[in-house]
Parts: sequence; C-alpha cells; structure tokens
Amino acid sequence: MAGSDLRLGVNIDHVATIRQARGTPYPDIVAAARAAQAGGADGITVHLREDRRHIQDADLAQLRHALTARMNLEMAATPEMVGIARNVAPEACCIVPEKREELTTEGGLDAVSNYTQLAPICAALSASGIEVSLFIDPEAAQIDAAVRLAVPAIELHTGRYAEQDTDVQRRKELQTIATAAKNAKQQGLCINAGHGLHYENVAAIAAIDELNELNIGHSIVARAMFVGLRQAVAEMKECMRKARL
Ligand code: PXP
Repeated sequence: MAGSDLRLGVNIDHVATIRQARGTPYPDIVAAARAAQAGGADGITVHLREDRRHIQDADLAQLRHALTARMNLEMAATPEMVGIARNVAPEACCIVPEKREELTTEGGLDAVSNYTQLAPICAALSASGIEVSLFIDPEAAQIDAAVRLAVPAIELHTGRYAEQDTDVQRRKELQTIATAAKNAKQQGLCINAGHGLHYENVAAIAAIDELNELNIGHSIVARAMFVGLRQAVAEMKECMRKARL
C-alpha cells in the first residue's frame, strides 16, 4: 500500500460560481483559498474558462499574490490562455478541453488528434517554468501522446468512474484508471487524477499507489455549506489518508 503522501488540490471555481450568480463581491475567493489551505489543501486549483463563467482574470492575480500553497491553473489550449498563464506564473497548468455549452469539463483532452496544436502550447508553458499537465482519459494512446509531448504530468479523468451506477461498472472503470496509472508511471509521468470525486467515491481512487495528487472541487464546496470550507477540506484529506493506510 502507498504512504499517506497523496496530495489534495482544492478546486475553488464554485466559490466564484456563487459570486458570479449575483455579481456580488462575496464570497471572497482569496478567503476561500486561505480556508482551504488551513484545512490542509496542498494546492489550489482554478479554471479560467474562456467564457469567464466563474473565475475571473482579476482572481488569478489576487490568488497568485495571496497563496502559500501551489497554484494550478486549468485552461484551454489557446494562445490567449498561454499569455495569461505566463503573466500569472502559476506553479502548474493543466490543459483541459473546453466547450462553451458544457456544464463542466466533459471528458479528457484528445492529445492524439490535437497533438500539433498542443505541442507549441506545452513547449511555451514549459519554457516559462510552468509544470504542464494534460487532463486525459485513462487510455494508453493518450498517455503515449503525453509522453511524446514531453509534459512532466498528466491528470487522469475520473469522471466516467464517478458517473457509474453499479459496483460492477465502477470496478471496471477503476481498473482502467489503475492500469493507466501504472502505464504512465512506467513511462516516467507524474500522475494526478480528478473530476466527479466526492466523500463516498474517493477512497478507491486514493488507494491507487501511483497517484500523486487528486483535484477535487464541487463536492468540497458543497460540503462547505454545512461545515465550512476548512473543515470540508480536512474531511476530504482524512478520507484520502484512510484510503492509503
Ligand atoms: N480536474 C479537472 C481537470 C477539472 O476540469 C475539474 C473540474 O473543473 C476538476 C478536476 C474538479 O472536478 P470536480 O469539481 O467534479 O471535483
């Protein structure tokens, strides 16, 4: 079994979702990041979407200034986003696919078909000293493409696992993720995972030895309504720690 060193990146997009719903100055995104850090977040993740539906450009500058934890910027593979990332200089960038009409990120990036578009973007971010990660489905072809793109990290999409209704289907998806994680580790990648994880389904994913970090947002922000963000983060860290005992 693994050690208890699985990291938690807390995605605070949905704190901004509440703010943007009314155009109010609250809830304060920096205060949210601080509360998540106090609860044990190892990193703070934000997704600057092209439609700016939650996180805004000004949030990035404020967070960059205030954070002590690692900052992970999720972004689409566009020249505009590369420019922003180079200005903000987060420790890490995770490239995600983005469709304007989607409710949330649907599926991983197709690094095979989009190889030529991704290559200069990964190179530009890496040249700026940013650790680049690709959010991909747990498939061998996608992992091979990530290796060819020379990125140091990937984030395995756990959405399909999270969406399954039966234990049999969940076990199948879990096995797919575990196999992909082993394959990626053998190829020298740092492996993160996320999407759709919550307090009840996180343990099986957290138990996968090869994983370095989980990125979790919606379930933590939802739980924070009842117990506060600091406590919600601490509870998730505890679920992850127990899974690795
Ligand atoms: N990882 C990536 C790449 C994502 O796009 C998201 C959603 O923004 C997450 C993790 C977090 O997903 P959730 O909000 O379902 O925990």
